[in-house]
Amino acid sequence: MRTQVGIVGAGPAGLMLSHLLHLRGIESVVIDKRSRENIEKTIKAGILEHGTVELMQQTGLGDRLKREGAEHHGIHLRFNGRNHRIDLSGLTGGKTVTVYAQHEVLIDLIARRLKDDGQLLFDVDDVSVEDLTGTSPAIRFTDADGNNQVLDCDFVAGCDGSRTYTRFLIPEGEVRTDFFHQYPFAWFGILAEAPPSSDELIYSRHERGFALISTRSPTIQRLYFQCDPADSVDNWSDDRIWTELHARVDGDDASISDGRIFQKDILHFRSLVVEPMQYGRLYLAGDAAHTVPPTGAKGMNLAIADVVVLSRALDAFYTSRATAALDAYTDTVLRRVWRAQQFSYWMTSLLHRFPDENDFGLRRQVAELQGVTGTTAGAAYVAENYVGLPLA
Ligand code: DHB
Repeated sequence: MRTQVGIVGAGPAGLMLSHLLHLRGIESVVIDKRSRENIEKTIKAGILEHGTVELMQQTGLGDRLKREGAEHHGIHLRFNGRNHRIDLSGLTGGKTVTVYAQHEVLIDLIARRLKDDGQLLFDVDDVSVEDLTGTSPAIRFTDADGNNQVLDCDFVAGCDGSRTYTRFLIPEGEVRTDFFHQYPFAWFGILAEAPPSSDELIYSRHERGFALISTRSPTIQRLYFQCDPADSVDNWSDDRIWTELHARVDGDDASISDGRIFQKDILHFRSLVVEPMQYGRLYLAGDAAHTVPPTGAKGMNLAIADVVVLSRALDAFYTSRATAALDAYTDTVLRRVWRAQQFSYWMTSLLHRFPDENDFGLRRQVAELQGVTGTTAGAAYVAENYVGLPLA
């Protein structure tokens, strides 16, 4: 087999890259170890930045998003028992975010790639990549029928998520440096059949720990609360979960609506940035190159921003053999990646209970929240970053 861009990983980065390349007349093949069903069913975050929504609409992926996504004009930061609204659209010249789950984006992308005769190979195994430093790298793998395949390409895109193989093709030390930060907590996430607890998301800071009220639809709610990273979903009965959420959120202007919980998961927190994001003919995008903590829901949006830059750089190469944009890929993308990394880290530190925090720290945190929500400059900083920095 031969293609122009071989893409390892059919997540948001890989599928969107394939879609954007197709629109520019560039061929790609996407391979993934997972099944299509697994990819279309795995629950992840659900907030699309303004630019992500615009990109989907401009590239023919907007129909179901428009019908089923819910546009949000504000969020609440909750502390001292009260909501403090951040007017996202008022502070950003009309920008908003949209609640639309990541797996729905993937369902739309897969459907569209297949409609456009895109080559998506699921259930592959034994993936390896060769000759990255030459001009014709090859991806070897076993296909779903167990046949050995070689995919010759001009470029390889490493879009294989946080459990990446492609990241490690960049030699550590002499070329690659990983910048890593660990957090002393995790999130417990649930999906519940219940009415919405709030019209807008609530990020709640509480002495018992952080809680987040999000939503998926008028009948399905997504809620999270800070937990110990060593905890297990088996320790949490439905009753215990609702009691904890009520304790962390309920008050005069907010209250949680209970319902049947049908999914429980624990999300681990890490910050990671890999530099550089390229090596020879390999370009990393999305979680293969960087992971953010979930606060602020930047992960998928960052992956999409990466491949906007990468698709343009590849287009410049195929149009005029220009390599300047490809050479500059890491530098271009990393500026935005580090800004999002900083914002996710900062929102995390603003709202979570750190295990070793003393009373000084707790009062300081409330004062910081008052400064952020009580000044136009503070609220604008949250709003601009939350709706998303310009894509590229
Ligand atoms: C969701 C996840 C987040 O990390 C966040 O900050 C907001 C919403 C969600 O899954 O709905």
